Amino acid sequence: MTLKIGFIGTGGIAKNHLTNLSKIENVTVSAFCDIQLERAEQAARQWLDAKSYTSVSQMLDDQKLDGIYICIPPMAHGEAEYSVIERGIPFLVEKPLAIDRELPRQILQQIQDKNLITSVGFHWRYMDSTQKAQELMKNSKAGMALGYWMGGMPMVPWWRVQNGSGGQFVEQTTHITDLLRYLCGDVVEVYAAYGQRVMHEKVEGTDVADVGTVTMKLENGMVATVSNTCLLPVGHHVGLDLYTDQGTLEIRGGYLKEIKRQSVTEYKSATNAYHTEDLAFIHALRTGDASKILSNYADAIKTHEVTVAANESALSGKPVRLE
Ligand SMILES: NC(=O)c1ccc[n+]([C@@H]2O[C@H](COP(=O)([O-])OP(=O)(O)OC[C@H]3O[C@@H](n4cnc5c(N)ncnc54)[C@H](O)[C@@H]3O)[C@@H](O)[C@H]2O)c1
Repeated sequence: MTLKIGFIGTGGIAKNHLTNLSKIENVTVSAFCDIQLERAEQAARQWLDAKSYTSVSQMLDDQKLDGIYICIPPMAHGEAEYSVIERGIPFLVEKPLAIDRELPRQILQQIQDKNLITSVGFHWRYMDSTQKAQELMKNSKAGMALGYWMGGMPMVPWWRVQNGSGGQFVEQTTHITDLLRYLCGDVVEVYAAYGQRVMHEKVEGTDVADVGTVTMKLENGMVATVSNTCLLPVGHHVGLDLYTDQGTLEIRGGYLKEIKRQSVTEYKSATNAYHTEDLAFIHALRTGDASKILSNYADAIKTHEVTVAANESALSGKPVRLE
C-alpha cells in the first residue's frame, strides 16, 4: 500500500525530507501547506497529483493522509500540531518544538491522550558515529562533557529574532543538548550566561544573543558545559567531547574520534542520518512499530526544556532546576 504524506511548511528542511522520501518505495507526498502559497505550489509540482494549500485544516479535511511532516519555524507551532492530533494522524515535527515551555506540554498531553506515533527531528541520534559513541559509552564512566556550536548566523529572517527562533541555544544548540542527553542522561540543573556582541549591529533587527555558555549538572553526577556563538564569519566546530575513565570521545557531525592511552581510532558515518530518520518514521507509519524512532515528542520535550531553562537562567542570572 502506498503511504500518503502531507507537509506543513515547505522551506529548507522540508526539501531535505522530500528528497529522502522520493527515494523510499511506496511513499507519495500528496499535500503541501505553507502560509506562502507559491512555496507550497512549487513543492507540489515535484509530486504526481499533489495539491497545495495555505490552510492546515483545509488540507487535512480535503485529503486522507497517513502521516504529516511539520517543518515550520519555532514560533509558528501550535495550530499545526493541534489540527493533526485532532484527526489522529502520526507526525514528524522538526526541532525545536516551540520557543516556550507551555505549548509543547499541552501538545504532549494531547498526543498521549490519542496514543499517537511521533518523531522529532533530532537527526544527530541517527548518525552511525552517535550509535558507535553510545556503544563505547556502555563500557566507560563519563565525568564531564564539553559541547559546541560555533558558527555563523542562518539568514532566514525568523532566526535572528528571539520571539521567532527562541535564540541560538533553543533553535540550534538543542542538537548538542539532545546528544548530551542521549549519550549521558538527563540534565537536572542549568546555569547560563549569554551576551550580545556583534550581530545586532551587523544585521538589522537582530535581538538574539550571539554568544552563550551553559553549564549543566546531570542526574548521574556528570557536569557539562555547552557553548555557542553565531557571530563567526566561517563556522568552527560543532559537536560534543566526552571525558571518561577510558579516554576521550570527540563527536562531530558524522565523525567520531576515540582517544585512549595507547591509541586513536576514528569512525565515520557511512549513512545519511536524515534518511535513516525518515526511514524510521515511514516504517512506523507502515507497521505501527515505532521502535526505530530514536526521538519521540515525549523525549524531545525534555531536551527542549533544558534549552528553555538556559534562556531563563541567562535572563535571571540564577541557576534553574529542571522539574
Ligand atoms: N533537523 C535539522 O537539522 C534542521 C535543519 C534545518 C532546519 N530545521 C528546523 O526546521 C524548522 C524550519 O526550518 P527551515 O530552515 O525549513 O525554515 P524556512 O524558513 O526555510 O521554512 C519554513 C517554512 O514554513 C512556512 N511557515 C511558517 N509558518 C507556517 C505555518 N503556520 N503554517 C504553514 N507553513 C508555515 C514558511 O512560509 C516557510 O516556507 C525550524 O524549526 C528549524 O530549526 C531543522
